[in-house]
Amino acid sequence: MKNATTANVTTANGTTTNIKRALLTLSALSLLVSVAQARTWEQIKAAGSIKIATEGAFPPFNVLTGKVLSGFEVDLAQELASKLGVKYEWVTAPFDGLLIGLQQDRYDFVIASHGITPERLKAVDFSSPHYCTGGAIVSKVGGPKTAADLKGKIVAVQVGTTYLENVQKLPGVKSLVYPKDTDAQIALTTGRAAAWVGDKFTGIDLVKAQKGKLVQGELLFSEKVAMAVKKGNTSLVTQLNGALAKALADGSYAALSKKTFGQDIRCK
Ligand code: ARG
Repeated sequence: MKNATTANVTTANGTTTNIKRALLTLSALSLLVSVAQARTWEQIKAAGSIKIATEGAFPPFNVLTGKVLSGFEVDLAQELASKLGVKYEWVTAPFDGLLIGLQQDRYDFVIASHGITPERLKAVDFSSPHYCTGGAIVSKVGGPKTAADLKGKIVAVQVGTTYLENVQKLPGVKSLVYPKDTDAQIALTTGRAAAWVGDKFTGIDLVKAQKGKLVQGELLFSEKVAMAVKKGNTSLVTQLNGALAKALADGSYAALSKKTFGQDIRCK
C-alpha cells in the first residue's frame, strides 16, 4: 500500500511536471512563431504614445526613485519621443528580463544601457548607439586594478551583463553575480568582493560617493550602447535613429549628457 501510494504521488507529480513542461514548451514555441506583432511606427504614431522599458536601477543612466524615473537614458528617450511627436509611457522590469519582454510585445523599445553584442543581435535589433563606454574595474585603494590583478580574486557583477561575460573570460577569476548592479557595488564596499566590474561612468560616481576609499582601475573592454526593438521592427528603429540623429545634431543630446556626466558621451 505504502509503495502504491508513493507510486501514485510520484505519478501525480510527474504528470504535473509534464504538463508544466508542455506548457512551457508551448509558450516558448509561441514566442518563436508569435502571432502578436510588435507595433510598427505607424501603429505607435496612430496611438499617439510609445511604450518604453528600462530597468530603473542603473545610475546615472536609469534610476527609479519611488515612482519617479530619472537619469540620462530616461531624459534622452523622452527627448526622442518629443521629437517623434508622441507621448511616452514607461515600464520598468529587472534587467535580465528586458529583452524577453520585447519578444512578448510588452513594450515598443528598451533603453537600458545594453551593449551591442553578437549574442543579443540574434534576439533583437538595435538602434544606432546612443553612447559609447566600457566595463571598468573598481576596487578599494590598494586592491586589484588590472585584469591580471583580478586573478584569484572575487569580482562582483550584475547578471546578464557584458561585465559578467567579460569577467568570465578571465582565467582564475570568480564572479559573484547579483540581479542588480547597485547590489554588486555593495558587495565591493562591504568587502564580499575584491572588485566590482561595471560601467565606467557608473564607476566614476561610485568612486566619488565612497570619498577616497575606492579607485577605478583598467577598462576591461569597450562597448557601444544602443536601444533595442523587437527583431524585424525596422519602421520603429528607423524612427528612433532619425530622432537620435536630430538630438545629436541640434544640441539637445549634448545638453542632456552634460547635465548628467559633465561631458558629452556620444560615440566618437
Ligand atoms: N552595458 C552593460 C551590458 O550591456 C550593462 C547594462 C546594464 N544595464 C542596466 N540597466 N542594469 O550588459
